[in-house]
Amino acid sequence: MNITLVLKKYFRKVFIRRKELESFSLNGVQFSVVDYCYMFGIRPSIRAIAHDEGRRFSSVIYLNSKKGHPYLPPVQAMIKAWANWHEYHHALVLGCAGCALPRFLFDEYESCAIRGVERSDKMIEIAKKFFLHGIDDRFQLIHGDAFDYVSSYQGVGYDVIIVDLFHGKELAMRIFTDDFICHLKRICSDHGLVVFNLSSSLSQEELDHYKTSLKNYFPEASLMLWHQSRFLALFPDKTGHDVVASFKKKTQVYLRK
Ligand SMILES: C[S@@+](CC[C@H](N)C(=O)[O-])C[C@H]1O[C@@H](n2cnc3c(N)ncnc32)[C@H](O)[C@@H]1O
Repeated sequence: MNITLVLKKYFRKVFIRRKELESFSLNGVQFSVVDYCYMFGIRPSIRAIAHDEGRRFSSVIYLNSKKGHPYLPPVQAMIKAWANWHEYHHALVLGCAGCALPRFLFDEYESCAIRGVERSDKMIEIAKKFFLHGIDDRFQLIHGDAFDYVSSYQGVGYDVIIVDLFHGKELAMRIFTDDFICHLKRICSDHGLVVFNLSSSLSQEELDHYKTSLKNYFPEASLMLWHQSRFLALFPDKTGHDVVASFKKKTQVYLRK
């Protein structure tokens, strides 16, 4: 066994206390809600919805911090970067699980109303029981299907939309259909940003293929690689190349902070 793996295993055993709060199965995937507490406060304690035998997380929050959360730092960095151009008043998160990104938006943008859509009633139960402490009705969690939601939504345009639709590690491929993208564009405000978490689900060829069809609706896009994962930001009409380039740089700066 490689020495780094041995050290990691040793570190985990000695310095991390793992406490399982609940375990459940959803359509063949086993999930558990787990608290990880680091000895001597060497890192902040976290609460996660884990799957794949604890190797992957569907959601993670810090238990005692309001300064960002450990879930998808690139998405948080993209959201912060775009805030340099436009204010957020209405945000939408599609796929919520433990609501880490809604919580990030809630903590970071005090005048922003956040709506989350989650299909699984079990995930909603888990979110309410273990993750939504300290959050008031500025955040509204809707039980429903994200695709139905975007196609029937008629309200005010969203300033930021996060698409984070997975079951375990399986990406919902319907996010690439013309129908969905067209509705995303329709429900986005004139200055709204759309961010997709693609994780490591797609090959480069698949991604190139989808990027071409996305361009019909969102002419400017920015792809970001982070470890094995990919994130795609889609910009409103008339966002110039210079703004996109500057957005990329700012995202990198926030990611390093
Ligand atoms: C990776 S988790 C989302 C994590 C979340 N964004 C956060 O900030 O913590 C993916 C979630 O998407 C949900 N999901 C998958 N397909 C969906 C759909 N069609 N409509 C609504 N939710 C869906 C799953 O039930 C799962 O809870």
